[in-house]
Amino acid sequence: MSEENVFVINHPLIQHKLSLMRRKTTSTSSFRALLQELSMLMAYEVTRDLPLVMEDIETPLEPMRAPVLEGKKIVLISVLRAGTGMLDGMLRIVPSARVGHIGLYRDPKTLEPVEYFFKVPSEMHDRDAIVMDPMLATGNSAAAAVARVKATGPKSVKYVCLLAAPEGIATFRKQHPDVPIYTPAIDVRLNDHGYILPGLGDAGDRLYGTK
Ligand code: URA
Repeated sequence: MSEENVFVINHPLIQHKLSLMRRKTTSTSSFRALLQELSMLMAYEVTRDLPLVMEDIETPLEPMRAPVLEGKKIVLISVLRAGTGMLDGMLRIVPSARVGHIGLYRDPKTLEPVEYFFKVPSEMHDRDAIVMDPMLATGNSAAAAVARVKATGPKSVKYVCLLAAPEGIATFRKQHPDVPIYTPAIDVRLNDHGYILPGLGDAGDRLYGTK
């Protein structure tokens, strides 16, 4: 399904794994494993339109023209810290991808993002960038992360998450109408603390057992 450049990935395996992750009884180790599995499946969908070029290769039997990915390696950009849980799964599917990190935390009072780390590979202008963070909640961090990535001049940018709130999509859309969002689900709303309802709680805490 696609609406306003939002792609809801409703593959049954993705939907099932997401439901397991939402359950409050799911352990930290299961949550982590599920996020990795789900991210592998998401990687398949998100990379579906990567351009190919034909290259001359030799099989053991004869030469042929074969399709290979065009251009420089794509760059997977994890928004710390929960994005790293998705990165591991994505890298299983695209092991030669380059990796970038953005460190942002949400000021608990203003809910605005504050940057503390930024590192991406060289030659960004030749790369397609995929920015990932599990929870598209207020949309402030997502929009700030994507603005920062755009400033490095990549060929294209996509945003991938595990759950999105309508408010987050709206905020993100205002700033980045050109950036497609990939998510398995759009939930109902945010609560007063900026958490997605019904959601799955704090993704970072559930991933790393820090609560
Ligand atoms: N971040 C989370 O980890 N969970 C939410 O519901 C919102 C933001």
